[in-house]
Amino acid sequence: MIMTSITNTTITIIPEPVELKKINGHFEITKETMLFVGEKLKKVEEYLQQLVQPSFSWRIPVSTKRVKTNYIDLLICEEDQELGEEGYVLSSTKDGIRIEGNTPKGVFYGIQTLRQLLPMEIEEKSQIQNIEWVIPRVTIKDYPRFEWRGFMLDEARYFMGTEVVKKYLDLMALQKLNKFHWHLVDDQGWRIEIEKYPKLTKVGSKRELKQKRGEIANTENPNIYGRFYKKSEIQEIIQYAKDRFIEIIPEIEMPGHSSAALAAYPELSCTGGPFEVPTRWGIFADTYCPGNDEVYEFLKNVLDEVIELFPSKIIHIGGDEVPKIRWRSCSKCKEKMKKENISKIKDLQVLLTNYFATYLESKGRRLMGWNQILDENLVNNAISQYWLGKQRETISHIKQGRDTVITKYLWTYLDHPYKILSLKKAYRFEPIFSKLGEKHHSHIIGIEAPLWTERIPNEERLDWQAFPRLIAYAEIGWTPKDKKDYKSFRNRLEAFLKRLDILGINYATMKEAE
Ligand code: ACM
Ligand code: ZN
Repeated sequence: MIMTSITNTTITIIPEPVELKKINGHFEITKETMLFVGEKLKKVEEYLQQLVQPSFSWRIPVSTKRVKTNYIDLLICEEDQELGEEGYVLSSTKDGIRIEGNTPKGVFYGIQTLRQLLPMEIEEKSQIQNIEWVIPRVTIKDYPRFEWRGFMLDEARYFMGTEVVKKYLDLMALQKLNKFHWHLVDDQGWRIEIEKYPKLTKVGSKRELKQKRGEIANTENPNIYGRFYKKSEIQEIIQYAKDRFIEIIPEIEMPGHSSAALAAYPELSCTGGPFEVPTRWGIFADTYCPGNDEVYEFLKNVLDEVIELFPSKIIHIGGDEVPKIRWRSCSKCKEKMKKENISKIKDLQVLLTNYFATYLESKGRRLMGWNQILDENLVNNAISQYWLGKQRETISHIKQGRDTVITKYLWTYLDHPYKILSLKKAYRFEPIFSKLGEKHHSHIIGIEAPLWTERIPNEERLDWQAFPRLIAYAEIGWTPKDKKDYKSFRNRLEAFLKRLDILGINYATMKEAE
């Protein structure tokens, strides 16, 4: 195996840290290096051990006291305002490495930086011989620009499964991304077990497989596409995410993008159906009937099971692309409008969104939806996800002190071809609206990159669409705006991609991506 040259330890961290001072020299982790683990850091220690053990071939021995030489110290520091909840300080001297944060999460991010300071062979899953596990001597003080640094995966169109999701959670951690928005429900598939309504998965997770798009049936029947997550699998994934300080935000679409649910329970639509789980993509006229009280009961029961499963404070209810055509000729919808004294058909969606915002709040959760939920009568506590249109409403929502996550359509959608959204363009993206006064900036809580899978039937393609662009968004989410520099990013990316090679990620080449 390659010997890492001590003198050639250039520093290539992504996302670029806030402050980094390099000092001549290095520190080498050897079998004699002792680990001291401060209070509340047991889980973080275990993560570190699992990270290094395969390639080191040893677990770092733990000392009950801090030692003066040849050490790695993981510590919760005296409250440091500047570091906030996610920041850390990493310093390496000739004697050892110290990582400190206000919280275990901060220390965890320090470990991700340590990981990138170590030779890339740290990513190998088997023992590496003849290598010096050296890191350059540095002092790094680091904390994120935005609290929301997200990635969204659509598994309704194509189901990727537990192993792929775990792989992405690992890759998110490496980039200090912290929100996994899990799009589990859409027209073409319902992918989460709901015990009270078994047909949601029995019927709603399956669609006819036309085999036109190079898809592979992931069911026993080669003519049927569709699987779903059992609750036990979801619990396992939630724990895996938690160990990596990633919050999972589940998305249950309503009232549109609901064909899969309506195929299972057509009585929840305006017309009564019948419906099939569609095999084509697009926007479908049939939605849940916002005039039907049973719809509210059904969705409440679904959300109850979702809340029980997911600890996330935030529950996403979709709300995008809702045709109102069926509502206009539905007697229940008309009756509801009369009863609620509503004059405009669009207000039925506002009614439904507000109903669930209030319901979720009563359960200690917060509603999030795509920007089509925005309306002057929307309740205050909803978080909006800005993607397309409604920019005026989005800015007004922000000015009223409401929170927004930015996922601008032509700038952050990972499903776009590189010809439309090159790596360079992705890196150029700035989430804060240029016309927004500084005092409102804090209500843009962050950035997210969605990966819709209509044209992504497998893992290989998923990797190719996501990488390297996701790495650019990770830097936008973390690094101070004035430190963004494409040339520097590109240089650091070269080293980062070598890690992805070891991890077996099928990323787009620079030639393809730029
Ligand atoms: C969306 O892309 N339909 C939110
Ligand atoms: Zn209706």
